[in-house]
Amino acid sequence: MRIGILGAGRMADALGTQWVRAGHELTLSGRDPVKVAALAERLGPAARAGTWIEAATSGEVVLLAVRDYAVAEVLEAAGAAGGTLRGRVLIDCTNPVVPGRFTLATEGGPSMAERVAETAVGSRVVKAFNLCHEDVWRMTPPVFDGAPLSVPLCGDDQDALATVRSLVEDLGCGAVEAGGLERAGLLEATAAFMIGLWFGGADARAVLPPLKFASGSPDKANA
Ligand SMILES: NC(=O)c1ccc[n+]([C@@H]2O[C@H](COP(=O)([O-])OP(=O)(O)OC[C@H]3O[C@@H](n4cnc5c(N)ncnc54)[C@H](OP(=O)(O)O)[C@@H]3O)[C@@H](O)[C@H]2O)c1
Repeated sequence: MRIGILGAGRMADALGTQWVRAGHELTLSGRDPVKVAALAERLGPAARAGTWIEAATSGEVVLLAVRDYAVAEVLEAAGAAGGTLRGRVLIDCTNPVVPGRFTLATEGGPSMAERVAETAVGSRVVKAFNLCHEDVWRMTPPVFDGAPLSVPLCGDDQDALATVRSLVEDLGCGAVEAGGLERAGLLEATAAFMIGLWFGGADARAVLPPLKFASGSPDKANA
C-alpha cells in the first residue's frame, strides 16, 4: 500500500525502513526538504519526498511522526482541518511526554490522539507504536525472551484497526486491540510512566506480573 509519513525524523526512518522492506511505497514529508530528500534516498526507490499535503493525500494510510508540540502546526500545514485526511487511516505514534517530569503535556484535557482526530476531520485515527524506542522498531523482528513484541492499538474504526494490524505484522510483531480511541490516553500515559521508569534505571517489564497472575495467584485459584 502507499503510506504517507508526516515527519522525517527517527520514527519515520525506523518504521519507513520496515514498511519499504515489506513492499509498501512511501511519501515522506518534513519541515526541512533536504532532510526529507536524504531520508527518501536512503530508503530507496519505493520512497519519495513530498510536501506535507502530498504526504497527507498520497495513500490510504498516513503516519503522524512529529514531536508533540509540533502536531497542531503540522496538521494545519497538511490541510487536515480542510479534510485532506478524510477517510484515511491516520496512525498516531506521538508521545506528549514532558521531558524530565515524565508527565503528560495533555494533562487535564483530551489525549493527543483525540486532539488529532478532532483536527483531522474524517480521518480514522489509530494510536500505535508509541510504547517502544525507535531502535526496537528497527529490529527484524522485535523478539524478547523468545516472544514477538505485542503492539497495542487504540482506535474506533474496525477496518482501520485491521490495516494497522497488518502494518504491525509487517515488522514481525503481533497487534493487541486495546479498545477505542477514548483509551488512547492510557497508552500515552503508559509511555510517560514507562519512560520515567527507564530513565530511573528500572525495568518496566519487571513491574507487571505474567497473565496467569493477573487475577491473583493461580495456585490459590486451584486450591
Ligand atoms: N524516537 C522514539 O524512540 C519514539 C518512540 C515512540 C514514539 N515516539 C514519538 O514519535 C514522534 C516522533 O519522534 P521522533 O523520535 O521521530 O522525533 P524526531 O526524530 O525529532 O523527528 C520529528 C520530526 O518532526 C519534525 N518537527 C519537529 N518540530 C517541528 C515543528 N515545529 N514543525 C514541523 N516539524 C517539526 C522534525 O523536523 P526536524 O528534523 O527538522 O527537526 C522531524 O521531521 C514524537 O511524538 C515521539 O514522542 C518516538
